[in-house]
Amino acid sequence: MTDRIHGLHHITLCTSTAQGDANFFVKVLGMTLIKRTLLYDGLEPVYHLYFSDPLGASANVTTSFPWRRTGRKARPGTGQFSMTSYSVPKGSLAFWRDHLTEHKVPIRRRYERFGQAVLQFEHPECGLAFEMVEDDTDLRRPYPSKYVPGQFAIRGFHSWTVTMQALGDMPAFMNEAWNFRKSGTDGAYTRYEVDNGGSGQTIDLLYQPEVGPGSWMYGEGMVHHGAFAVNSIEIQDRVKAEIEGLGFTDCSDRKDRTYFKSIYIRSPAGALFEAAVHVGFTVDEPEATLGTEFMISPQFHDRKEELLARLNDPILL
Ligand SMILES: [Fe+2]
Repeated sequence: MTDRIHGLHHITLCTSTAQGDANFFVKVLGMTLIKRTLLYDGLEPVYHLYFSDPLGASANVTTSFPWRRTGRKARPGTGQFSMTSYSVPKGSLAFWRDHLTEHKVPIRRRYERFGQAVLQFEHPECGLAFEMVEDDTDLRRPYPSKYVPGQFAIRGFHSWTVTMQALGDMPAFMNEAWNFRKSGTDGAYTRYEVDNGGSGQTIDLLYQPEVGPGSWMYGEGMVHHGAFAVNSIEIQDRVKAEIEGLGFTDCSDRKDRTYFKSIYIRSPAGALFEAAVHVGFTVDEPEATLGTEFMISPQFHDRKEELLARLNDPILL
């Protein structure tokens, strides 16, 4: 395992409603809601929900800010993470096509990328794109769920796609700053992998010169950032120093996100990259009841009851 960035950690989306996310990620995709808290930045309370395997292991965590209540919508486009892809066993796309259709999830297309069968679909509320990718080399345990049979269940992230209007410095950034190596091309896609590669350690760059830039600001229907795993604070410090040595002096200071400690950098493609040291989701509630209580974020610590009343947005599971 590399002593720098070694794989995908979590991805954070701006979606529509809390209940819509619970319906989609838990009741359709078969994830567990493991944490309900608030966005740690800014002055206005916005839910932050974490969906994953029951413990929130690295390369499993999809998080959401349900953004509709603010009224701001995002503009789709390049310069962003545009696709979150999950790994499922070979032969399971027929199940997913029927299952998604039954739950009124719009399906975009079925195709092959880098020789693997892919089913692409949309979040029913916010329109963000997701994929199931058949990968028979992924030996991670399936997400347990009463909604999805184990033989078809998600194993974790397969990959994320960054869509770009121009390649610019992004190939060099992936290689020198983020220690991923180019492993192939397929049409407009260029694949980058780290460590052993494969599911959980893959980023695809999608070149779309005809598509203008998407939103960087929070808004309903955008991916805000993708977070990658680093194993220790010491490694994170070294990654930051090395990135700054390449000229990226806009790398953020370390931020304490309770469940991980993070630095952020705007990649040359435009997509916001994070390098996160995993702390774990049992730091403030026990494993058996993860995700059942509302955890207040630090900047709102003294206002829990007022904010819960104001959000007035119960989540029914
Ligand atoms: Fe993050």
